[in-house]
Amino acid sequence: MKIHGQPYRTIWLAQDGWRVCVIDQTRLPFRFETVTLGSVEQAADAIATMIVRGAPLIGATAAYGVALAMRSDPSDAALDAVLALLGATRPTAVNLHWALNRMRVRLVGLKPRVRAQAAYTEAALLCDEDVALCRAIGDHGLPLIREIASRKPVGERINILTHCNAGWLATVDWGTALAPIYRAHDAGLPVHVWVDETRPRNQGAALTAYELGAHGVPHSVIVDNAGGHLMQRGQVDMVIVGTDRTTATGDVANKIGTYLKALAAHDNSVPFYVALPSPTIDWSLSDGFSIPIEERAAREVTHLSGLNEDGDVASFRVVAPGSPAVNPTFDVTPARLVTALITERGVAPATAEGLAALFPDLARGA
Ligand code: MRU
Repeated sequence: MKIHGQPYRTIWLAQDGWRVCVIDQTRLPFRFETVTLGSVEQAADAIATMIVRGAPLIGATAAYGVALAMRSDPSDAALDAVLALLGATRPTAVNLHWALNRMRVRLVGLKPRVRAQAAYTEAALLCDEDVALCRAIGDHGLPLIREIASRKPVGERINILTHCNAGWLATVDWGTALAPIYRAHDAGLPVHVWVDETRPRNQGAALTAYELGAHGVPHSVIVDNAGGHLMQRGQVDMVIVGTDRTTATGDVANKIGTYLKALAAHDNSVPFYVALPSPTIDWSLSDGFSIPIEERAAREVTHLSGLNEDGDVASFRVVAPGSPAVNPTFDVTPARLVTALITERGVAPATAEGLAALFPDLARGA
């Protein structure tokens, strides 16, 4: 995607060919700054502090984290240690463990002296594949938007609600939930996106609004509780969200608040789609309530980040001093509330049979 007219991915190699550059997403939308990661510790810190975030990008950063580690110590002991270090950064997105396992399988049988080169090659391949998967999600999601457009008077806007950020900033490029929206906009369909602000960290207001704006996609930011009201008034044609982990049976973990949107969509007969690449499917789980839910610091609830009067990025307290806060950051939407899953291989019912029919090769190994 383009920022200030420049094509960007969210992760790339520095000029020196070994350090790893990412966009500092804690500074967006106010500052576009990049960070250069030169060690596995820095990569782990970037994931844990959410300089990078979004399930596919967490996996891609972890893959490069392994490469950074192998460059300084390619021993078996170091490989085990970095897999453990990176694996402990964030608990919910399964893409992290998928990427680390892929790196382990690629490296474990190699002689230590060739591991660093192989790790960089594998991390780059994983990133390229992520771009292709997200692009394919866009291809398969586009007809769903076209179908809604075909039932409306020509030119009438198609209102799509999304939660959190599942755009190109959450992946290597294109995004998951936003990929069909970008494709529809580029194809000339009059899409308009309702962007949930997505407390506590406001990934919708800060990141989704930023990237839709940069691409020229019409959108409006709404508070998290407005979605149900808009659905009751017929102002939402469809919902598309991403996911951090989807079970083999189609239950979906995504940013906190997703479940309430699914309930409201169900009550108002609004189609509720979840877009995901196959590395987000946890084939070992058949029950969404087994998905580990990340609890983050209470400070994310008690404080908001924004611009102060001097134009600097600062954080502001918004909760009564002394009041405790609790911060579960993901929730589980049961498969029965999901209209369908949009994947790189096509659109599947959110059922074990639906997923297995699209991914017989992956489901069989589960
Ligand atoms: O806590 P975050 O910002 O990493 O959460 C991101 C989400 O919940 C996204 O919806 C999800 O990762 C899907 S990304 C394509």
